[in-house]
Amino acid sequence: MSGPHPSDYRQHPLAQRAREVMPAGNTRTTVFVPPSPPFAVSGSGAWVTDQLGHRVIDCNNNYTALIHGHADRHVHAAVMDVIGTGTAFGLPTETEVALAEHLRQRTSIERWRFSNSGTEAVMTAIRGARAYTGRDVIVRFAGSYHGTTDAVADRAAPGVPRSIGASVVVVPQGDRRALDAALAEHADDLAAVLIDLMPNRAGLVPAEQDFVRHVREATTARGALLIVDEVISFRLAVGGLHRSYGIEPDLVTLGKVIGGGFPVGAVGGRADVMAVFDPTRGGAVGWGGTFSANPITMTAGLAALDCFGEDEVSRLNARGDALQGRLKDLGVAVSGRGSLLRIRESVDLGVLWWHLYRSGVLAGTNGLIALSTPMTDDDVATVADSVAVAVAQTKNEETGS
Ligand SMILES: Cc1ncc(COP(=O)(O)O)c(C=O)c1O
Repeated sequence: MSGPHPSDYRQHPLAQRAREVMPAGNTRTTVFVPPSPPFAVSGSGAWVTDQLGHRVIDCNNNYTALIHGHADRHVHAAVMDVIGTGTAFGLPTETEVALAEHLRQRTSIERWRFSNSGTEAVMTAIRGARAYTGRDVIVRFAGSYHGTTDAVADRAAPGVPRSIGASVVVVPQGDRRALDAALAEHADDLAAVLIDLMPNRAGLVPAEQDFVRHVREATTARGALLIVDEVISFRLAVGGLHRSYGIEPDLVTLGKVIGGGFPVGAVGGRADVMAVFDPTRGGAVGWGGTFSANPITMTAGLAALDCFGEDEVSRLNARGDALQGRLKDLGVAVSGRGSLLRIRESVDLGVLWWHLYRSGVLAGTNGLIALSTPMTDDDVATVADSVAVAVAQTKNEETGS
């Protein structure tokens, strides 16, 4: 049975109110679907209910962040324990120490600092790399999304200064020759290479092992840093996806799952590199953020990660691999790894999104599917069947059959 029509959402009084006060009626371009996105009203486990009472299995999970779905009882209980004792202080709290200890134990990465988003984490890691090396140029890969700061924004996007091209070089992902040429050209001024090992926007295809090894060796040889952006991929392996590549980054950036559903980002790295942020040293890089490392986020993040150890990570990845296999059996083109998948059909993704949503599945607007621990085998089977039907419906409409 099909849920409400897109026009029901566009005409809904809440959408009309929203358009009066916000461009297109909402804040995040990444969750906008024309003509007007549904509004979430509540979430529980793997399910979300919208303002028209339509219930959907959440395969978006706030763009991969909600590893335990909605209103997880462990996270909820932990947050309720601390929320009555203050939500943010002009002092550090023990909670940030506890989360940093957890991350160190999980990753073997020595030092950590926290921010409010992955965007901030990437921005600060870039600044840290420039400060550490005394060089300016960052090399990154085309199609990878690293947040919304100028250095990582699409060069052609409105509002991005043309001058950014002087200090940020973009090369095709996986193109060793282009990478080597860029590294050679900027040899004396290369601060870091920034890489996402399975970039979502570029298609959620895991980077080649040999290529990643080469990036590691080439950066070391040139005295530049390797920054691995694990904001999305951290959920795929305890300690992060980079571990399955057998490399040690100089800096990693995290976000999403480590906040337990609250705003978060983190930079981790070797002690000597992270020392650039040490305010007891001369010329340290500043690190602010009024709400960085607030005790609510730190507590929620720790509670979420405590329930996402080796067994849970493997179980969720196995479920994702099974879903990928089932989709392929049903003839759907799909990429990804473990608990992260991407529908790779050449169809109008907006049309596909609505077919999926109306049939009861909330995906990313780019066809992203991110699993969460409360999903059952039945939920996953329903997702597979719904995706196959939605893809077929979209194709039929496009061909007029
Ligand atoms: C790989 C990667 N880096 C950075 C970011 C930015 O994180 P945030 O949205 O928390 O600013 C994202 C967001 O999706 C991401 O996928």
